[in-house]
Amino acid sequence: MVIAIDGPAGAGKSSVARGLAGALGFTYLDSGAMYRCVAFTCLEWGADPEQSGEATSTAMSIEISFEGEEVLIDGVDVSEEIRSPEVTEAASRVAIHPGVREAMVTEQSRLIESGNYVAEGRDIGTVVSPGSPLKIFLTASPEVRAKRRAEQTGGDERDILVAQMERDKRDSDREHGALKTADDSVEIDTSDLALDEVVTKVADLARERGLA
Ligand code: DC
Repeated sequence: MVIAIDGPAGAGKSSVARGLAGALGFTYLDSGAMYRCVAFTCLEWGADPEQSGEATSTAMSIEISFEGEEVLIDGVDVSEEIRSPEVTEAASRVAIHPGVREAMVTEQSRLIESGNYVAEGRDIGTVVSPGSPLKIFLTASPEVRAKRRAEQTGGDERDILVAQMERDKRDSDREHGALKTADDSVEIDTSDLALDEVVTKVADLARERGLA
């Protein structure tokens, strides 16, 4: 069973999904990390993230796995490397290619087939797990999201805001797996909420629905 947490970057998905998984005893799946792994490998191998064929064959050539908090490509821990600004930028480029998305969605579906998961991303409730019994769409104002990222990374808030707007546009406009709310999702604006308030709210919804 999958609880789907979707929304734009900086809306608090990772923290909420981790906190929720901990509170309910579910496994956490960070689907964005998988697109980051494809982007990282493209940059390592000199493949062009913009080029559908090159990005897709890269996606199909690597094995992505998770061990607790660690993200591994072909058994090598890349948890830190995939968070660099270069990889963040390239990830939103590889994520537009249908071949890359198909490879990732197939792998994500396989991972969440058994057990209880809290999966976060952009298309979990719409594409990866449309049958999910609880779909959450997290939002926050662009300024709040950029501020949170700046606090996490130590980067400049204005620069982050500009780059974030470009990525938001790519995530929302792409033809496949675009960022959008599922018809049956619950939307939560986290701009003025503390992390534990959001986790409690979603955990309550899960219990109300008899999922935990
Ligand atoms: O959530 P994140 O910042 O780690 O995601 C990295 C990139 O991957 C981002 O540009 C959106 C994309 N992504 C996606 O297209 N589909 C997902 N399910 C998760 C992330």
